[in-house]
Parts: sequence; C-alpha cells; structure tokens
Amino acid sequence: MPAYYATAPGKIILFGEHAVVYGRPAIAVPVLQVRSKATVTFDLRSAPGKVLFRAPDINLESALSDLPENHPLAAVIWKAASAMNLSHIPACTIQVASNIPIAGGMGSGAAVSVAILRAFSTSLGHPLSDEQVSKLAYEVEVLHHGTPSGIDNTVITYAKPVYFKKGDMLEILKVKHPFTLVIGDTGIQSPTASVVGDVRLAWEKASEPFEAFFNAIGAISASAREAIESGSVELLGQLMNENHARLQDMNVSSPELDRLVEAARSAGALGAKLSGAGRGGNMIALVMPDNSEALAGALAKAGAKRTIITEVRVT
Ligand code: PMV
Repeated sequence: MPAYYATAPGKIILFGEHAVVYGRPAIAVPVLQVRSKATVTFDLRSAPGKVLFRAPDINLESALSDLPENHPLAAVIWKAASAMNLSHIPACTIQVASNIPIAGGMGSGAAVSVAILRAFSTSLGHPLSDEQVSKLAYEVEVLHHGTPSGIDNTVITYAKPVYFKKGDMLEILKVKHPFTLVIGDTGIQSPTASVVGDVRLAWEKASEPFEAFFNAIGAISASAREAIESGSVELLGQLMNENHARLQDMNVSSPELDRLVEAARSAGALGAKLSGAGRGGNMIALVMPDNSEALAGALAKAGAKRTIITEVRVT
C-alpha cells in the first residue's frame, strides 16, 4: 500500500518567550536532533472518509470520526482538507511518532501538526506551501494554547533560526558563527497555556511592571540578534543571563529550572536561561563546543532528566 511520510524538528526559544505574546521580538532555533514524523498509508479497499490515527506516544488510536472536531489531530486534517478543497478524504491511516518531549517547551504540538500537514498534502499530490503549513499549524496551536504568538509554527515550518515579531514578515536570522547549546530537561511537564494564562492574569493586575519586563526582554532580543549576526558569542551568553533574570522577575521560573541554570553557569557556560513557557520543561546553556559533554554531565548531576547538545549552524 502506498505510504508517504514527512518529519518536522523540535525547537527552542533562545530569547523573548512570553514577551513575544505581547508583540515584542523573540528568537527561536530549530533542534534537529529531535523530530516528529507522520506517515500516511492509503487503504485502497475501504470507503472514502475512513481515516484512522495511530499515535502510540500519547496512547491514541482512534478514527477521525470519533474525535471531536477541535481535537488537535482531527483539526489538522479538517483544516488541511478545507485548504485543499477536498470533497472527500481517501481512506488512510495516519501514524504519528515523535521523540520531542511533550509539554517541555520544544514545540512538540506544532511539529506534529507540520509533519501531518506535509505528509497528508503531499500524499494527495497537492503539497501545501510553507506559508500555508505555518498558517494552518498556527490555527491548531490556537486550539492547544489559546493565545500563541506564532513563533513555534514559524520556526518549525522553516527549520531555520528566526527573529519573530507577531504580525511582522518572517525574518530568517543570519548566523555568522556557529554556536553550541546544551538543553537540559527538568522532566517536569508544564503546559504552555497555563503559564501563559498566569502571566496574563499578573499583567492584568499590574500592567506597569509587566510592560517594563516585556520591554526589557524585547530589547534583549534585539541586542541578541545583533550579537548572532556579528558572531559575538560571549555577548550572547550575557544576554541569556539577563533574559533569565527577567523571566524570574515574572515568576515563570522554578527551583528546578534555577538549579539547572546555576549548575550550567558553575560548569563554565557562557550563559544560561529557561526556554519556553517555564515552570518546568527545558533550560538552555551556551557553551564552548569542547565543553559541551562536560556541561551535559554537570546538568545530569544537577537533576536534568535528559540533555541534548545542539549546534546552531551558519545560515
Ligand atoms: O511552547 P513553549 O513552551 O516553547 O512556549 C512558548 C513560548 C511562549 O512565549 C511562552 C508562548 C508563545 O506562544 O509564544
């Protein structure tokens, strides 16, 4: 039986999480070591419309018709079918596999959507454009998170470092010198929607200090962009430390994240911060390449459940 597959990488936010929801710029990079994969296999003997999802990572095996329309997996297919003007969906099985940690700030939801959109549209002979894929994945993110900024679907669709500001044109960053990051996972799942919701409540209660945090973080992202484009890796580390301090001020860090950030700095990182929504999930440390293994070891000793070493390449 004919089968088609597509994959999409994970991502981390280097600078600007939360502030990006309020219109400030942020920087995100793909993490190519982790991926989501979607495989579409047609079942030529069954009647059109019989679509089966198999996603063993989340213990899901279900017919499309048995899922609520706004279930993130079902929504991907309904949105793709509508964008492609399909009058009927051929019978098929959609298998989803992913080694991107769930609810860990690495974009697992957006990566699954992007992989399915590409595999499904290509299998039907009408590959969606990157712009369409990103837009539809964003619409599915709205179902997951409520008020996503759009940074996850953008960086994952284009699989390149991006400078992202809500409503602005996509900007792929020019990376002058490669740099190495170690990602440390607290192992604590932290749903983005609930942390973003808490920040919104805090902002509604005390908009002045929160606007000041967002402005400070936006300025850090702008400086970081210059540092990346001019190859000033040391400055990038300092900016990461400053960004982490502002996220602590906003009460989105946690003792576990702070412990890993401190351990990274003590082990010689040029800078470290939480990455993504916070409270759990992942932190990142900027390191000299020859120190990456030792730093990953230091993070494991300080409680990281998983570490990933990744290089941001020249673009
Ligand atoms: O999905 P995460 O955990 O990487 O968090 C996304 C980052 C936020 O800025 C907190 C939310 C958003 O939509 O940009």
